[in-house]
Amino acid sequence: MQLWKGRFKKELSKTTNDFNSSISFDSRMYREDIEGSIAHATMLGRCGIIQTTEAGRIVHGLKDILADIESGKLQFDPDAEDIHTFIEAELTERIGDDGKRLHTSRSRNDQVALDIKLYLKKEVVNVRELLEELIQVIAEKAQQYSDTVMPGYTHLQRAQPITFGHHLLAYAEMLLRDISRLDDCLKRMDEMPLGSCALAGTTYPINREITKELLGFDRVTNNSLDGVSDRDYCIEFASVLSIIMVHLSRFSEEIIMWCSWEFKFIELDDAFSTGSSIMPQKKNPDIAELVRGKSGRVFGDTMTLLTVMKGIALAYNKDMQEDKEAIFDAVDTVKMCLTAFTPMLDTMRVIPENMRKAAAGGFINATDVADWLTKNGVPFRDAYKATGELVARCIELGTDLENLPIEEYKKVCDVFNEDVYNAISLEYCVSQRTAFGGPAPENVRAQAEKLINNAKE
Ligand code: ARG
Repeated sequence: MQLWKGRFKKELSKTTNDFNSSISFDSRMYREDIEGSIAHATMLGRCGIIQTTEAGRIVHGLKDILADIESGKLQFDPDAEDIHTFIEAELTERIGDDGKRLHTSRSRNDQVALDIKLYLKKEVVNVRELLEELIQVIAEKAQQYSDTVMPGYTHLQRAQPITFGHHLLAYAEMLLRDISRLDDCLKRMDEMPLGSCALAGTTYPINREITKELLGFDRVTNNSLDGVSDRDYCIEFASVLSIIMVHLSRFSEEIIMWCSWEFKFIELDDAFSTGSSIMPQKKNPDIAELVRGKSGRVFGDTMTLLTVMKGIALAYNKDMQEDKEAIFDAVDTVKMCLTAFTPMLDTMRVIPENMRKAAAGGFINATDVADWLTKNGVPFRDAYKATGELVARCIELGTDLENLPIEEYKKVCDVFNEDVYNAISLEYCVSQRTAFGGPAPENVRAQAEKLINNAKE
């Protein structure tokens, strides 16, 4: 079933029709398509381009179609060319000639651009809400574990002591920036393309402001060619989704490591772990692994969109039909990942003793020894060198900085005295890191509270 019959003598071959059709994946935009058509018909009526009685019957017919799709009474025709064709044909079948007036001063080119924007505007908000939920779970955990000492790493080598709450809040910061990226993306997407028609606007006395108001857009697109031919809003949204997946994949990787027997910093709830078909002892962090793995899909979708759009001449080209599966997949994937990830994190069991134990090894307080010397008048570079010698001595003696006798300290530098032991206790080291942005428990509590209170507002 095609809308463009007049010029053609033959029907499309079955394979061409299947190849050409997008209804299998664009039917999910049926609500937006109907919403856009209702606004368009209303505007046509108000501008006197069609009669208001005709507009009224179109709107009525479209509402009936919507109700029938939602109730399951009306099924999509898999042979239809796309959702736009399907709904227009159905309308005409139901209300006759009035239905044929709907497409006055419109093209599927501006129609599809509109539908995608209407659809994605809602999805940006959905993803945003899921991120907010995750941030809340992170903030609550951070509050709970604000003074839990753990090793901070660089190069995956124990570096300096931090708190678990602080580590978690690092992810909250990344996700907060993702939210602000979504907000930016939404602002740029908020332009109403209808009225661009096929590419060159229209000679009818339309009023695009009316359609814009009815559809809740911030403004209309300024250029009819641009209105139908760019998909930068898909690319931008997919890019933001990719960055979200980068963040989730790093978080997942850490969760996977933390669950291993080598770390055992946390244990995932049974409801969010899987077993092995052969090894009875196994408890695998499959959800985190899947989230890590699915980042590949979302990056791929972004690359698809970039490649589809690259180098195509203005205005609409059929290549652009390839936009939908990519952006829909990216959105679906990120939503699915967030929906699985948040309760997994929420239900994990944290094992502070193991974090503390890990933090106690690896000379994680070496910087604090050097800082102690510096605060006692030794220039930092000299303090650094002296501490390095102490670490080497500890390794020789098979001990750590906390247990190295004071005589050994003094041999390296005579400024040392017994006070150094207090200064290098892990809890003390962490508690002193109060400079804004640091891991001290009081900082973590303040940051976590801020996030929790923001959400309540
Ligand atoms: N299904 C098409 C798409 O998704 C709709 C636009 C068709 N426009 C056209 N001139 N063939 O891009």
